[in-house]
Amino acid sequence: MSTNTGEWRPDSWQRKNAAQQPIYPDQPALDAALRQLHQLPPLVSSWEVESLKQQLAEAAAGKRFLLQGGDCSETFADCESSVIAAKLKILLQMSLVLVQGARLRVTRVGRFVGQYAKPRSAETETRDGVTLPVYRGDLVNRMAFHPDERQPDPELLLRGYERAGLTINFIRALVDGGFADLHHPEYWELPFARQTPLADEYHRMVKSITESLRFTEALTGRTLPEMSRVDFFSSHEGLHLFYEEAVTRQVPRREGWYNLSTHFPWIGNRTRNLDGAHIEYFRGICNPIGVKLGPPITADEVVTLCQTLNPNNEPGRLSLITRFGESCVAKELPGIIQTVRGHGCNVLWVCDPMHGNTETTSAGIKTRRFEKVLAELEATFQILAKAGAHLGGVHFELTGENVTECLGGACGLTEADLARDYRSPVDPRLNYEQSHEMALRLAKLLAKQNG
Ligand code: PEP
Ligand code: CO
Repeated sequence: MSTNTGEWRPDSWQRKNAAQQPIYPDQPALDAALRQLHQLPPLVSSWEVESLKQQLAEAAAGKRFLLQGGDCSETFADCESSVIAAKLKILLQMSLVLVQGARLRVTRVGRFVGQYAKPRSAETETRDGVTLPVYRGDLVNRMAFHPDERQPDPELLLRGYERAGLTINFIRALVDGGFADLHHPEYWELPFARQTPLADEYHRMVKSITESLRFTEALTGRTLPEMSRVDFFSSHEGLHLFYEEAVTRQVPRREGWYNLSTHFPWIGNRTRNLDGAHIEYFRGICNPIGVKLGPPITADEVVTLCQTLNPNNEPGRLSLITRFGESCVAKELPGIIQTVRGHGCNVLWVCDPMHGNTETTSAGIKTRRFEKVLAELEATFQILAKAGAHLGGVHFELTGENVTECLGGACGLTEADLARDYRSPVDPRLNYEQSHEMALRLAKLLAKQNG
């Protein structure tokens, strides 16, 4: 039975226990920042949000595939044209590989436009005997280990929203200007891509897509407008509930409330407590939403989550993003799928093969192994197929840049390489080559699933 019933309001979460929230020393300053945030125009429209929900419903019906990816955490410093363009390029390239390999339409959702708040395992961090509040992401405080920098600062809520606005503005301008035109995949080339071992396979694929596009257009005598423009949707973990509340709005001619700072907010594995404030907030918004499922969780809890978060069993509304890790997935996932299906819950099954496969090297560096990430993905495909369901999407931490954060893959990154170009302030991401290779492997798995 759900404990989250009763009247819902954008602020009804405040009656519940809210995990992972910063403590602001200056309440009037927080209130003032939230009042301003509430006045600012939205970043997305309810039309777009509903259109994504429709696409996710199609993915749940096996007619589409969701590719969700980006940084673990965006930073304000990375709100910069080349970094944003690189994120779009890698998502575009990967989606092209999936379209070609699996003959499925792909919906691209970035972990961007406000992915600025992070859940942490401890409240504080101690260095050389000095204890300070932990860094919770650029929306909350600053990374430098200094008392002033680590103090939660409400002004950062505004700075984060503004940067999210700048980011989505640039993305829209690129898309509207023709950057994402399938007739011109050369626009998405990344500078170092030609030297990678998988470049040939990718370029063969691109050539075949553009040739068949031109062939169809020549045959029909018209250009295909849907091929000239590819959409991107935004997503972030809806963690900071005062922020999320302030961007929750009503719109003319539609019922209900929308979080208009993003298309697709998700609930993290640390904040999905059934009686917690995050579930209370999320149950009342109309956006399509995701919830991360990882240990420890029971199948009954998952069903209660589905019933609470999607009481009308609306297709496309709820994505279950599983992240059990390569070593646990075979034990945990089958029972969950069976129970969810037994209760007739409409969900989109999405696999996040990153967060259950994080490890720390002997040198103390947080990393993930490409082979384990792939193994969890493969196992998830098989487990879902065996249960009569299917994988409808993937969720990756990745970047279009040539960083050295995850081990393995065809590029053969080793522990010694990690120190060379490790940039993520939080979790390690697949780099350009690893992301590409993952897309090629995923396309094969999808082709098998749909074949
Ligand atoms: C994340 O997506 O960065 C994250 C913290 O994941 P999870 O909630 O699954 O641990
Ligand atoms: Co992460």
